[in-house]
Amino acid sequence: MKKSKTRCLLLALALPCALGAWAGTDVPRTFTDPTRPLDERVEDALSRMTVQEKINIIHAQSKFSSPGVPRLGIPELWTDDGPHGVRPDVLWDEWDQAGQSNDSCVAFPALTCLAATWNPDMARLYGRSLGEEARYRGKDVILGPGVNIYRTPLNGRNFEYMGEDPRLASRMVVPYIQGLQSCGVAACVKHFALNNNEVNRHTTNVIVDDRTLYEIYLPAFQAAVTEGDAWSIMGAYNLFGDEHLCHNGRMLNDILKKEWGFKGVVVSDWGGTHDTAQAIANGLDLEFGSWTDGLANGTSNAYDNYYMAQPYFNLIASGKVGTAELDDKARRVLRLIMLTAMNPEPGFGSLCSEEHYDAARRIGDEGIVLLRNKGNVLPVTPREGMRILVVGENAIKMMTVGGGSSSLKAQRETSPLDGIRAAASRCGATVDYARGYVGDVTGEYNGVVTGQDLRDDRTPAELIAEACDKARGADVVIFVGGLNKSSGQDCEDSDRSGLGLPYGQDDVISALAAATPRLVVVNVSGNAVAMPWAERVPAIVQAWYLGSEAGNSIADVVFGAVNPSGKLPFTFPVRLEDSPAHALGAYPGVKRADSDIVDLEYKEGILVGYRWYDTKKIKPLFAFGHGLSYTDFKFGKATADRRDMTVDDTITFTVPVTNTGSRAGAEVVQLYVSDPKCSVMRPAKELKGFAKVWLEPGETKDVKITIHTGDLTYFDAGANFWVAEPGEFVASIGPASDNIKTTVKFNLK
Ligand code: BGC
Repeated sequence: MKKSKTRCLLLALALPCALGAWAGTDVPRTFTDPTRPLDERVEDALSRMTVQEKINIIHAQSKFSSPGVPRLGIPELWTDDGPHGVRPDVLWDEWDQAGQSNDSCVAFPALTCLAATWNPDMARLYGRSLGEEARYRGKDVILGPGVNIYRTPLNGRNFEYMGEDPRLASRMVVPYIQGLQSCGVAACVKHFALNNNEVNRHTTNVIVDDRTLYEIYLPAFQAAVTEGDAWSIMGAYNLFGDEHLCHNGRMLNDILKKEWGFKGVVVSDWGGTHDTAQAIANGLDLEFGSWTDGLANGTSNAYDNYYMAQPYFNLIASGKVGTAELDDKARRVLRLIMLTAMNPEPGFGSLCSEEHYDAARRIGDEGIVLLRNKGNVLPVTPREGMRILVVGENAIKMMTVGGGSSSLKAQRETSPLDGIRAAASRCGATVDYARGYVGDVTGEYNGVVTGQDLRDDRTPAELIAEACDKARGADVVIFVGGLNKSSGQDCEDSDRSGLGLPYGQDDVISALAAATPRLVVVNVSGNAVAMPWAERVPAIVQAWYLGSEAGNSIADVVFGAVNPSGKLPFTFPVRLEDSPAHALGAYPGVKRADSDIVDLEYKEGILVGYRWYDTKKIKPLFAFGHGLSYTDFKFGKATADRRDMTVDDTITFTVPVTNTGSRAGAEVVQLYVSDPKCSVMRPAKELKGFAKVWLEPGETKDVKITIHTGDLTYFDAGANFWVAEPGEFVASIGPASDNIKTTVKFNLK
């Protein structure tokens, strides 16, 4: 009896030793010493772990966490969405709310709004504020930011991303990541890559040429990794080259890890893993949300069934695969844990602080875009006795709940109506409200309820009649409408069915425009919408999803406490058919006869967004980079510090910009480059630099923008190399992509 017991014990010890190194615990623990170099600590921790422990840390133990190594005192890794605030806690094994009363947050504006600030300082402030909230809530990884390029205005998740231009997204994502990670909270940049629509998101196989991949869809991810040093990245649900992107050899091994030298962790999207062998070989490091959980069957530890759990262990134990890949994955996860959960530096963070509300408001203020302002209807100057009418469901609907995984439990959210009312009443103006239309009256996502009762049984005709009656007696009418976060609008897991505004809003706006000449339309959305009434409405404001401070930011701009300086991060087409993917019938793809796979060819190639409209000479409703101000800016003649560039060179352009109006304001100086004569097709122009400048009335500043020879290149897929052809280039500088004020020609020798 005794003998057999001893044999069991020996076996129990021998197995882990045989399957991986276990150095015991008598050696001093380098890995707990924060003064030691990170790589040394990681190697030390790794050398002490059994194979089973390594397997454990590369897959989830709950909906949002993976276990650490309890035996060694290495803590768990807690992730959470992302990207606009820290998501409320769900139950261990289920999506239902955990029902905590301490998991409310500040909701920051959606990333489209952040991109619309064109101000990297705002991105840093955003990341830092969110990081402090995450740190306080004990979250180690924030599942965001998202930098998938805006390819079609129908994509339900565009509001979570940073627009249609790789340069703008790159310049904004880097400081966001740096701000976030300065709090010891990892960014998990998503969804890598080519995840540009939601419909068929698990089955779409993207077909795209390499030039387009490198010029349009990869740069923001590359900047996030190589400049932002993102500590983790999330694979996308869909496929590329017939391989799911969560274990896609080309994307994860060849490009991300080899070409870009990524040292962080590749996290699967939730349920994005499909195969153990591919997960082992093709670069996935940490598996979450797999639908192999067997919970329905009552499996005692469902997570053991994950692709990178017991099935992986069994392959190693049977000698079918070695441990090299496992060590690499575990090493990366350990590094992530040491940078986050074991990071003693950044303190404890802070939650729902007034500083965070202030940050949310500043970002909202700077991101709101003034699209049109005929006759200077805006800003409204509220005065004693002034009658302001607010119309529209989005003036009262809470927008922080809904939209999918980015849904939040905001500690407070000021609605547009409340924000407008508060600001107006301070000046003695009165604010009345009319519903105008009934959209989606539900107010629940994943167990978080808004508590609003938005039901209204009146007919559209009755609602319009009431709004128009009131409008006729008002000094100014502010319509607040647009999309919302319900399925089929700006929402994960579905796309929109068309470009038009839903719920009959075009009729309401048209009727209001006929009833009053003093109409302001505030469009709340994360996507372009059709505006067939645009010419009949004097003032149009693009207000995004602004989070906790939505109403205050809108009031700041409408009443002129803030001079708008936001610029569109994507084009508003007149019609859906004008936009590239739809003009070419390249959405949502073609289902294969023999499987669920939907092949989606990006036929427009590099002509995405303004690159398409400019090159094809299609006039958009509002162009990329467009955004007005309450003051006027004059651009002087731009000059360059040299005429000729050579290989690995820079050139600096200087343009004097003057505020010729009577209010202080900010202008975004945008620099686009064209290569008029080239052996391959080049877009009419491409954004290569920008700078936001603040000017007092009458003030002039010289704005300088420097570009590098690399900014003149295109990707030569045959040579797998970036190429610039010698000859003449043109720098076009202005306040919008369709409003170039000054150009400079220069040569590449
Ligand atoms: C989404 C991710 C999200 C994850 C966790 C997935 O369905 O695509 O963006 O981070 O769920 O909530």
